[in-house]
Amino acid sequence: MRNGTTLLLLAAIAVAGVAYLTLWEPSLAPAAPALTSVSDAPSAMVIFPVGEKPNYEGVGMKPVVFNHLVHKNRVENCESCHHTGETVACTTCHTVEGNVKGKFVTLNQAMHTLRILPQADRNTPQSCVSCHTKQLQKPKCAGCHSIVKPTRSEIYCNVCHSVTGLTKADIVDGIAGKLSDERKAELAANTLKARKNPVQLQPTDGPYKVMIDDIADKYKANMFAHRRHVNSLMGRIKDNALASAFHNQPTTLCSTCHHNRLLASASPKCGSCHSQRANPDPATPARPQLKAAYHLQCMGCHKGMNVARPLNISCVTCHKESEGQSVARAAEKLGEK
Ligand code: HEC
Ligand code: HEC
Ligand code: HEC
Ligand code: HEC
Ligand code: HEC
Ligand code: HEC
Ligand code: HEC
Ligand code: HEC
Ligand code: HEC
Repeated sequence: MRNGTTLLLLAAIAVAGVAYLTLWEPSLAPAAPALTSVSDAPSAMVIFPVGEKPNYEGVGMKPVVFNHLVHKNRVENCESCHHTGETVACTTCHTVEGNVKGKFVTLNQAMHTLRILPQADRNTPQSCVSCHTKQLQKPKCAGCHSIVKPTRSEIYCNVCHSVTGLTKADIVDGIAGKLSDERKAELAANTLKARKNPVQLQPTDGPYKVMIDDIADKYKANMFAHRRHVNSLMGRIKDNALASAFHNQPTTLCSTCHHNRLLASASPKCGSCHSQRANPDPATPARPQLKAAYHLQCMGCHKGMNVARPLNISCVTCHKESEGQSVARAAEKLGEK
């Protein structure tokens, strides 16, 4: 079983390596809503960390490819992003150090900040990360996203911060704000062409059903419909370009429930880390005991997704009462004899 899972995992990683991103063409197919100045809008571009005192050696982050076309088709109006009403580069006003025109809001803040005060008299600006975080409130995203904590690792940063085929001269000119639009468009197109989205482990890589019965003294846990769950969760998000880009490890979706350890390394039983003792271990206070771990995870997701059945209070959708507890069950037993 253990080896089987390991092999599946390796196979899936191998597949991920050769599967190219086919997302762009199909996801762009639906007609764009009528926009006034579409012809002015660029398709894909590279945003450089433009600064007043460029220090080429000291630049930590790579530039970012931004697919303007994908966004323009998904976001209602130009002013959601171009908050001053002028469709000019953000780096006119938001530079690495910040400048007067942008009231010293730095490029870093303008692109990532989550704390933005709503404006009454003008457009409320949005950063890349604040708008993406808002997308996670959709029920199809919120179920998982209410139970996973973002790790914000380097892999996460590199979904945006990576450009293919960048030369030293490109970086120097880009940071000085002098790289031609043609070259920026070429770099962006090459990056999108080379970009690969990882293939997630599939529902069939996990069990069909699992009996969860580690602590079945009072109630019986029902069979957990494992494959139905994974199918349903993956089915709902398969056309979302944001999800596809950021779920960037073959194990990302499995790790929603199987957290803190790679699936392949050992038994994925929750009870291998969550103790059955009545109270959480004082040494690991953030780690709930086993019953709470199940309940928090199952119900946290159901609540976030507005799953109609089972409701948190309808214990018997998930549990049958154990022998001795249930009259129906006792009658059934008698019938079997
Ligand atoms: C949703 C896309 C996105 C993600 C994810 C993202 N960034 Fe950025 N970041 C940008 C954009 C766009 C810029 C502006 C262009 C540039 O500077 O490369 C930027 C600029 C920056 C800058 C200022 C420019 C500089 O080089 O000093 C820093 C620092 C930075 N990012 C760090 C990070 C770190 C660290 C992470 C991961 C924790 C991260 N970013 C994740 C989009 C993103
Ligand atoms: C999701 C956010 C978003 C939306 C929506 C959006 N843009 Fe942009 N746009 C950007 C970003 C980010 C840049 C790159 C700025 C930079 O290079 O610093 C940009 C750049 C541009 C540029 C090039 C500016 C330059 O001088 O390099 C034009 C023109 C433009 N947008 C027009 C539009 C129009 C017209 C619309 C509405 C149809 C629109 N944009 C909708 C985010 C957006
Ligand atoms: C013409 C100058 C100008 C341009 C162009 C511009 N901004 Fe701004 N931006 C500002 C100013 C000024 C503020 C400060 C707002 C205030 O407090 O009045 C600001 C604030 C912000 C904030 C809020 C930061 C915070 O901490 O509250 C974000 C986010 C932001 N801008 C993102 C962008 C993005 C993304 C673009 C490009 C699509 C952009 N801006 C283009 C001038 C500009
Ligand atoms: C106003 C909201 C909004 C802002 C601001 C925004 N995004 Fe997005 N982003 C979206 C949406 C919506 C999607 C696509 C989801 C879908 O497929 O329906 C998306 C998709 C993406 C994707 C995956 C598809 C692709 O283009 O590869 C990336 C990467 C991305 N955004 C980067 C950025 C960067 C970089 C910025 C800032 C310069 C940014 N986004 C600003 C809403 C936003
Ligand atoms: C099956 C569970 C699941 C579903 C459904 C899901 N995600 Fe995720 N998502 C994850 C996990 C797990 C991570 C990785 C968290 C980490 O390690 O930072 C993640 C990470 C992300 C990230 C980067 C980290 C962050 O918090 O910004 C984005 C963006 C994202 N997902 C977008 C979406 C969008 C958009 C949807 C809905 C269309 C969605 N996801 C639906 C499980 C899910
Ligand atoms: C979404 C499904 C779900 C719902 C709804 C649910 N539970 Fe559970 N519960 C579980 C799972 C899974 C376990 C772990 C079962 C095991 O290992 O035997 C569990 C374990 C338990 C246990 C510990 C096992 C035992 O017999 O001592 C008790 C007690 C329990 N649940 C009571 C309840 C009560 C009372 C309700 C209604 C308020 C409820 N549960 C609703 C899924 C659920
Ligand atoms: C919605 C939450 C959830 C998701 C998503 C999920 N699993 Fe599970 N999985 C569980 C639970 C709960 C168990 C039972 C754990 C226990 O017995 O303590 C389990 C058990 C397993 C087992 C052990 C089966 C057995 O018979 O003991 C394997 C293998 C497994 N999962 C693989 C996967 C793979 C591969 C994925 C991704 C394709 C995945 N899981 C996604 C919740 C999930
Ligand atoms: C490899 C060890 C390990 C396994 C296996 C494991 N957990 Fe956890 N879990 C932890 C740790 C450690 C924490 C403490 C918070 C943290 O660091 O993420 C935790 C925290 C939690 C929390 C509290 C909320 C949170 O995310 O912090 C819930 C709920 C939970 N686990 C449910 C489960 C369920 C259900 C399973 C089985 C599908 C499971 N865990 C399997 C180690 C594990
Ligand atoms: C990450 C999200 C998520 C988690 C975690 C989760 N569920 Fe669900 N659950 C769903 C969704 C979505 C549905 C609706 C399924 C459908 O559309 O077929 C559902 C439906 C169900 C149903 C009704 C359908 C059926 O299979 O009979 C039961 C029972 C159930 N879940 C039990 C559980 C138990 C027990 C756990 C914890 C061990 C759990 N769920 C954890 C998302 C989740």
